[in-house]
Amino acid sequence: MKVAADQVMNGRDPTILRGDPITGDRYICSDFATKEWEHLWKKIWHVAGRENELQQTGDFIVHNFMKESVMVVKQEDGSLKAFYNVCGHRGLRLVSESSSVIDGFHCPYHGWLWGIDGALKNVQDPEDFPENPCGKLKLGQLRCKTWGGFVWYTMDDDAPDLFDYLSPIPELYKNYPLETLVRVFWMRIDLPTNWKFATDNFSESYHTRTTHPQVPPWIDQDYWTSRHEIWSSGHGRTVQPMRPSLSDRLPAGQIHPFDQILEYWAIDSSQYDDFETKVMQGWLDLKAKKRATWRARGYEHYSEMNDEQLTDSLHTVIFPNITISFLPDNIIFFRTEPHPDDPEKCFFDLWCMAFPVDGLDVVESIMAGQRPMEEASFIHRDFDDGRGVPEIEDSIVYQDMMLARALQQGMHSAGYKDSNLAGQETRVRFFHEVLNDYLKAGVKS
Ligand code: FES
Ligand SMILES: [Fe+2]
Repeated sequence: MKVAADQVMNGRDPTILRGDPITGDRYICSDFATKEWEHLWKKIWHVAGRENELQQTGDFIVHNFMKESVMVVKQEDGSLKAFYNVCGHRGLRLVSESSSVIDGFHCPYHGWLWGIDGALKNVQDPEDFPENPCGKLKLGQLRCKTWGGFVWYTMDDDAPDLFDYLSPIPELYKNYPLETLVRVFWMRIDLPTNWKFATDNFSESYHTRTTHPQVPPWIDQDYWTSRHEIWSSGHGRTVQPMRPSLSDRLPAGQIHPFDQILEYWAIDSSQYDDFETKVMQGWLDLKAKKRATWRARGYEHYSEMNDEQLTDSLHTVIFPNITISFLPDNIIFFRTEPHPDDPEKCFFDLWCMAFPVDGLDVVESIMAGQRPMEEASFIHRDFDDGRGVPEIEDSIVYQDMMLARALQQGMHSAGYKDSNLAGQETRVRFFHEVLNDYLKAGVKS
């Protein structure tokens, strides 16, 4: 199984591939989904939520994943513990949603009381048991750890340490104060497609010009100016300059988003002789201006960032199902999780997060428009062919989601045998090859 960190590989070099076919059955078969549950999902690290959801002793997050349910509970000493969300008496699911308890978890069936540390504290008629179970029985515990302000757990006692699993992601993004992020938009969307749709989609930018025509004037989409990186663990990223692509031109007279960015940072966008100079020199001027003025403008989160991080888009897939877009002022967390019964459905989590900036009460969330700079409440919606999520209508991710149903339908066709990928889409097949390694390793063991 590929889990160790190693040298970065060129994510647009197809010679790194074995050539495993990306067949339709992977997206539609229950048998395949069952294998993924056994050999992938039970082995990896999952995100339960944000650390700042757990402020007080007894606060807990519930994370339901397929038919399993896990809760992460804040302990008296400030540490976190993760438990299976199931009573040790007769197996009732203990809690249904994230909340807070004071003295512990009261099972609503026969009244057993489990402490927040997972130990059984109280039962009815203890003398009626061969031995009083209080203090002896414990809730099933899982490994739990934090990185980046995210709370992670794994169901596998033998899984690598979280930081080994994530490597080199924590090192790459150590300059971002991720713990300070405010989740200004928090939505879960039911989508009629297999969960792998999102990882496939976020592993390439080849679709951007067609699907997201608003992006090239904002983030350079020329593949030769981007860095496509991949690690044998399956993590990968595309690093793109946040400057207009030189291959695209907006019609004359249209307000250019790059001009607005330059002006926001007090750079005169009319000073450049031509468009090419504005793009290339303006991008360098922007880095310099941000570095010179961040403190005065209250952009505290820039304090450790390098030149690339100050201006660019670092679109990062954490194998197998999490994508995090690292932008200078925003972090966007995308995740799909499989539906418990139907491989043709998934849950799509969209968390738009922003770094606090002095004096800024309203932030551009990128995917859900302007939002107050405060922790948002959770919203769960059915996509309903786009009708169910008006808050994100016409956003980049909405445009992706609008393709989900037709892509899933295509996976059923006898006319689809495998994908025919461009070099810049190498990471798509690599993702499936790492997935296959997990499934094969499971069969051998
Ligand atoms: S199932 Fe929980 S107390 Fe009986
Ligand atoms: Fe997209």
